[in-house]
Amino acid sequence: MTGGVRVHEATLTLDLAYRIGEIDPRLFGSFVEHMGRCVYEGIFEPGHPRADDRGFRADVAELVRELGVPVLRYPGGNFVSGYRWEDGIGRVDRRPTQLDLAWRSLEPNRVGVDEFVPWCRAVGSEPMMAVNLGTRGVDAARSLVEYCNVERGTTWSDLRRHNGTADPHGIRLWCLGNEMDGPWQIGHKPADEYGRLASSAGRAMRRVDPSIELVVCGSSHPRMPTFGDWERTVLAETYDVVDYVSLHSYYEQRGGDRASFLACAMELDDFIEAVVATCDHARAVGRHRKRIDLSLDEWNVWYQQRFVGEEQLEISTAPHLIEDTYSVTDAVVVGNLMISMLRHADRVKIGCLAQLVNVIAPIRTDTGGAAWRQTIFHPFALTSRYGRGTALQPVLAGPVTDTAGFGRTPLVDAAATLDEEGGTVSVFVVNRDQADPVALSIDLRGLPAAVVGEHTAVFDEDSDAVNTAAAPERVRPRRLADVPVRDGTVQVRLPPTAWNMIRIRPLGRGLAAARRGDEVGR
Ligand code: AHR
Repeated sequence: MTGGVRVHEATLTLDLAYRIGEIDPRLFGSFVEHMGRCVYEGIFEPGHPRADDRGFRADVAELVRELGVPVLRYPGGNFVSGYRWEDGIGRVDRRPTQLDLAWRSLEPNRVGVDEFVPWCRAVGSEPMMAVNLGTRGVDAARSLVEYCNVERGTTWSDLRRHNGTADPHGIRLWCLGNEMDGPWQIGHKPADEYGRLASSAGRAMRRVDPSIELVVCGSSHPRMPTFGDWERTVLAETYDVVDYVSLHSYYEQRGGDRASFLACAMELDDFIEAVVATCDHARAVGRHRKRIDLSLDEWNVWYQQRFVGEEQLEISTAPHLIEDTYSVTDAVVVGNLMISMLRHADRVKIGCLAQLVNVIAPIRTDTGGAAWRQTIFHPFALTSRYGRGTALQPVLAGPVTDTAGFGRTPLVDAAATLDEEGGTVSVFVVNRDQADPVALSIDLRGLPAAVVGEHTAVFDEDSDAVNTAAAPERVRPRRLADVPVRDGTVQVRLPPTAWNMIRIRPLGRGLAAARRGDEVGR
């Protein structure tokens, strides 16, 4: 207790020699689906005062750049399992309006691959394209690779050139369908059937462009009855041809149990570790040399209890679907989920925050009006900007509590990264306690000459506070007082229900130590 306030105590020990692995920048990706108002009235709104000459909103593009998403998955999601990509190419006035059965929406096809990919690259992202293995198959998949990646001289590549895109799109990363384990998926199949189709499609796509990387569908969430068996069966069919297996995971507060919600990164830890184990089991059984890594290509907080369900939707164009408004608590959870991803950066190489705009998204727009940052934007953007380089293995000791969801649960969770070039260590840490602050002591034994820690946090006196069009800056990161390094230790106070980033700049011997650590790590 200090002055009547209970203060928890925690310690975090950092040593630059303790390394998890290199962080693939694609860990910080996002997802654009033809769903609700993500594309139409989200990234694309011709007639908006800030629309460019192709109809894309410049204000939204600026926020996407600020968010920092090196990869963008497209065009779905459940949408892709009924999509004919050919409907989205050629003259816009001749493109058909199609009924999208996934979200019971009218798809005008005004945005297709030739519009999306240049926009995606203009906002600093690499496209991650999904093919339809629900209603379609090998032929449509390999034709799309040909359309996108072959330079010229074939039917599909020449059609792309005829449509106005002279250079190939050069799409490297491809998803073999979406959530094919889910009975809700159009064209859902048993694991062995999907595995054989994914294998045939992947092999044909590779014949068109041997340089592509392939992601095969894993489980839609860890509570799927087929989880584990699905991955085992699918990998038995596809191990040689694919590079990554996907996992999807969404979280929400249930039954008023905020303590468990705040700790849900523990569930993601378990999910990731179970998928890694399944991949490595398949590797051993199949006597494979290569290792399959993970693509967490849909994750976020999503209040699914608030969604009426696809069957209840009236058919319309760009409906307001699952436009969740996020609180400070949700932002802390999103920051904590990113801590879990960094902790597994040796195996999780791709991550896609689902989705990018309006649909369970960090960016919201009003049609014809403003675009603003939701609370979750902030921990995401800061982790994406500073959580690069090498993931370190911090050793954390601190208070625990009992939660209904997870039993004994740490109140503090953290990840750390080393940016070799700048010689800067970034510590990402959450305080999950809703009432009390934490006095965190960071022992910088590997950074003896570190000088200063810069402390930024997302928290609020009201942990339910949100950003809206009327108050878009209500919640934003707060730069707290710098924390000096004394005797190799930094003392930081973490507010209750808070996501924090402490950036420690080493000087002189600190940098030398960083380099020595590099040698140890090799
Ligand atoms: O992101 C929303 C939906 O969630 C996606 O379309 C689907 O893949 C997942 O179930």
